[in-house]
Parts: sequence; structure tokens; C-alpha cells
Amino acid sequence: MGRIAYVNGRFVPHAQAAVHIEDRGYQLADAVYEVWALFDGKMADAEGHFARLERSLGELRIPMPMSRRALTLVLRETVRRNRLREGLVYLQVSRGVAPRDHAFPVCGAPPAVVITCKAVDRAAADAKAAKGCAVVTTPENRWGRCDIKTVGLLPNVLAKQAARERGAVEAWFVDDLGLVTEGASSNAWILDADGVLRTRDTNANILRGVTRRTLMDVIAAAGLKVEERAFTPEEARQAREAFITGAGSLVTPITSIDGKPVGDGAVGPVAMRLRSLYIERAKATAV
Ligand SMILES: Cc1ncc(COP(=O)(O)O)c(C=O)c1O
Repeated sequence: MGRIAYVNGRFVPHAQAAVHIEDRGYQLADAVYEVWALFDGKMADAEGHFARLERSLGELRIPMPMSRRALTLVLRETVRRNRLREGLVYLQVSRGVAPRDHAFPVCGAPPAVVITCKAVDRAAADAKAAKGCAVVTTPENRWGRCDIKTVGLLPNVLAKQAARERGAVEAWFVDDLGLVTEGASSNAWILDADGVLRTRDTNANILRGVTRRTLMDVIAAAGLKVEERAFTPEEARQAREAFITGAGSLVTPITSIDGKPVGDGAVGPVAMRLRSLYIERAKATAV
């Protein structure tokens, strides 16, 4: 974790960074967050993450804590003070500090802002991706507004822990229709038997991944076919390839689902190519 955090207007040593016990994020998960990947100290897909942040806040009627321009400056300053080049920057905005009560504070507390960042060893992450990763499936048990990026992540926490206990890096939620929605912290994709790249449509109860959106443009530019069409875990195993996307995982090949191989069990060459193309684009457009 970076040495310096930003908490409500102040840069503080990470070890001393703290929020009030009545912060509604802490008490009620009444908060949203965003995560940007950093390449050479710059934020990837900056616009997409800001747009989603504004949308998440708007859906919960939490005001933007400051202008997008000011927020960009504070995010950049946090990255700069931590001398971070490759990594992730995390922003959390809660409805603020007020005596605990489920309904919104009557007197209108200002939103509370926390920013932290952490380094990522890109070479190690690339080497890990090149080996492929395992996922497990788990019944979808989240609320109906997974399009809002809230810190209310308990089902994701439990799914991720179940994955870890089974030697996997990610858990894929499967809905009542038997279709994969998304991962606990990523979007889910396959390259199906017909050579079509598929990921769940955004009318479903999923987070509209910013990496997912950018990858669609990357795929189109590469002349490959993409469809927003659901798949079952069995279809994913029968597919040529499977992979996940997210600001943390970027594009990471999946080689097994619930202990059974995807396709022939080898790391997907298309997924690896898309990983390179995505990183290239992210670096070229980072700000
Ligand atoms: C549930 C979930 N889905 C998808 C994603 C991927 O979103 P993005 O590509 O914007 O990081 C995340 C990222 O944290 C997530 O938590």
C-alpha cells in the first residue's frame, strides 16, 4: 500500500489515515468507489471511470465531493506523493459523517473522500496471466443494482474467499437462468466455438466494466467479432477460450472453471493478444 493517503482534504501517512466511526461508508456501506489502473503514473481509462463514478453517485443521490477537475488533481497528487508508476489508485466517496440512521442525514453532511494507491509489479502480473487462472462458479446472490459501484461487497467478498479456498483467483456468479453474470471483481468473457467474443449484456445485473467497454473498441479495431450475449459455465468450458477483464486483472486468461478445463486447457492466444492490445491502448490514452 502507498505510504500516503488522502482523507477528507488532507494527505496523511497511510498508517495514521482514518475515518470517523460515524462515516456512513463504515456504518452502512453507504458509499461508492472507483479504481483506475496506473501506467507510468497516469490513469488508464480516466474518462470512463469518472463517468461511472458520477453515475454511481447520482444513482445514490450523493453529490460529487468536488469537480472532476479538482478530483483529478487530488488523485494525481496522491499518486505523485507515493512516487507510483505502475499500480492502482482507489477512490471512495461516502455520504459523509452523521449520527447512525438508515435514512439520509437531515442536515446534509458533506461527502467523505478517501484516496489510496498501491503498486503493481507488472512483470509478475504479466507472467501470472501468461500461465492462465482458475475460476469457480457460485450462485448469484447480490442485490439488483450491481450497476452501481458501491462498497457493499459482502457477497463478492464471500465468493472471492470461496474461490481462494478452492485454488482459484476469481468466482463467477451464475444467475437463476444458469447464465454467468460476471466475476466478483471482473467481467466474464468467452471466445465461443464459432470464434465470437461474448460477454454479458448490460441490461443484466452487472457492473458496466470500464475495461470491458474499452476492450470492445479494441476488439472492433482488431477486426474480431463481439457480441453481448450470455453464456453458461458449460458453454464457457466448451468455448475456445475464456478470460476476465477489470482495472486490476486487465485481461486475464481463464484456463479452468470449477476444476474442469476451458477448451483444451491451454492459455488462450486471443486473450493474450487482447491483453497486449488493451495495455497498449491504455498506455497510449492514460492521463
Ligand atoms: C463486480 C465487478 N465487475 C466488473 C469489474 C470490472 O470493472 P472495471 O473494468 O471498470 O474495473 C469490477 C471491478 O472492480 C467489479 O468489481
